[in-house]
Amino acid sequence: MRHVARAPMIAPSILSADFARLAEEADAVPGADWLHVDVMDGHFVPNLTLGLPVVEALERATSIPLDCHLMINDPDRWAPGYAEVGSRNVTVHAEAAHDPRGCARDIRAAGALAGLSVKPRTPLEDWIEVLRDYDTLLVMSVEPGFGGQSFMPEVLDKVRTARRLVDTGHLHVLVEIDGGISRDTVEQAAEAGVDCFVAGSAVYGADDPERAVEALRDQAARASAHLGTG
Ligand code: DX5
Ligand code: ZN
Repeated sequence: MRHVARAPMIAPSILSADFARLAEEADAVPGADWLHVDVMDGHFVPNLTLGLPVVEALERATSIPLDCHLMINDPDRWAPGYAEVGSRNVTVHAEAAHDPRGCARDIRAAGALAGLSVKPRTPLEDWIEVLRDYDTLLVMSVEPGFGGQSFMPEVLDKVRTARRLVDTGHLHVLVEIDGGISRDTVEQAAEAGVDCFVAGSAVYGADDPERAVEALRDQAARASAHLGTG
């Protein structure tokens, strides 16, 4: 079955933005498809960022759909709240969820798409059945916790597997990648079959963040164009 070419989605990560000016930083990327929000609890990952009150305020301050990436323990307890405040997509980590199917159900019931993320060393095979209950798969291409790390190309095998399962109708998830996406790496990720590209430092480290979004999208679209005809 053929992959139906769709416009690649770009989700700038505000982890690399100025936390004191989040509303303006959202305004700086009007062409973004989603705004990626990294929630870290200092336990699941060795870093601490922001939580629900900030997400709620950001949701009111921007019309860009929020893509919340919960790098926290016990997401079963906390994830539905991020959906309730209006996030478009709420992603939990497979390694952290006690009951991943229940998480997906609760996130969806609260009105958001449900995402499942796997760290670089977490095999996809273990989660394929569970992914039937999810809307998005977030493949981590760095160890979660910090922006600005180097892309790990070995995770692209998971992207290829997921792409194949989606294109053959065995899974119905959007394939998202997170970590080290830049002008140097976006093409290989697009060729592997990514639908949605998270980019932190490549967008907010650029002189013109909006141009960086458009450039990444154009580059991804060109690289994945042949997938539709192969
Ligand atoms: C890392 C976060 C990423 C981070 C990506 O744990 O999940 O979303 O912001 O940053 P870059 O694009 O700089 O690797
Ligand atoms: Zn993230």
